[in-house]
Amino acid sequence: MDTITLIKPDDFHLHLRDGAEMASVVHDSARRFARAVIMPNLVPPIVSVEQALDYRRRILAHLPQDPGFNPLMTLYLTDDTGRDEVDRVAENEQVCAFKYYPAGATTNSASGVTAIGKVMPLLEYMAQRDVPLLVHGEVTDAGVDVFDREKVFIEQVLSPLVEDIGSLRIVFEHATTRDAVQFVTGAPAKVAATITPHHLMLNRNAMLSGGINPHHYCLPILKREIHRQALVDAATSGNPKFFLGTDSAPHPVRSKEKPPCCAGIYNAYAAIELYASVFDSMDSLDTLENFASRNGARFYGLPLNTQTITMRRERWRIPDTISFAGNMLVPFRAGESCQWKLLYER
Ligand code: NCD
Ligand code: ZN
Repeated sequence: MDTITLIKPDDFHLHLRDGAEMASVVHDSARRFARAVIMPNLVPPIVSVEQALDYRRRILAHLPQDPGFNPLMTLYLTDDTGRDEVDRVAENEQVCAFKYYPAGATTNSASGVTAIGKVMPLLEYMAQRDVPLLVHGEVTDAGVDVFDREKVFIEQVLSPLVEDIGSLRIVFEHATTRDAVQFVTGAPAKVAATITPHHLMLNRNAMLSGGINPHHYCLPILKREIHRQALVDAATSGNPKFFLGTDSAPHPVRSKEKPPCCAGIYNAYAAIELYASVFDSMDSLDTLENFASRNGARFYGLPLNTQTITMRRERWRIPDTISFAGNMLVPFRAGESCQWKLLYER
């Protein structure tokens, strides 16, 4: 199989930033994806439907009239989020979920939830209104090793949450461990997970062996090879609980190369092509469309996209840098070759 045509995929986890930064990256996603779930961690964060809709208009302003790209907005959950905001999300098709960041867990998460107990009544209400909760699943406790923070989050926060509010739809974002794969696989159908291209392709050696590579630093942090293998198995298995979310998160090169290095990897430049390479390497191209174009839509209750994309098996070189609002950005796999090439979108 040297060409592959897919229902145009959706990216269920994307950071677009704002202003000139957004202008330089949004086209990469719009070419490859029909819809994207847009993360709300701007500074200040997007906490109301009104702000989300303004942000959505700013995104669409950078695209042509009929872009074939539908940004699905999210709100940043805080200790102070009110029920009226949940109602507004439930009633608006352009805003699809709340994002739960434990305060301080990652880039721009200072206003996140300080303790799950503070939002339990609100989460119960979200379950009643069937509004999904997207979770950044890491504890922030300084006493917990950075490589264990996802596993400990599952034990201390997620597992009790799923027990307490079984009817809440939850997406465990950017799963990075075998523990997460096992938990999500065994959880009720209302619990699903996204998986990024970088966590499918790399283990922590890519960040720490033979010299520290800040361009491979993201959160949750890259893990051991056994975890990468569990993610590849989950993504390629066809299990409808696992679907595509790039977590593409651009930072200018100076924020990556000068300490402290910001967490985030920019992969939107070749996202679907990189996923295709992973699936191809596992002889699983036949399950790529489920992962990329069907499973997430089904979980969110969205119709399948009507457009398609076509890729060809052809080597091309990912550039060393991309211009980013007057700065430079180093894309994921910079200077390396990618095995699949996007031909056209219809
Ligand atoms: C994201 C960012 O830069 O906004 N960074 C990252 O490493 N993934 C935030 C996030 O999703 O954790
Ligand atoms: Zn993210």
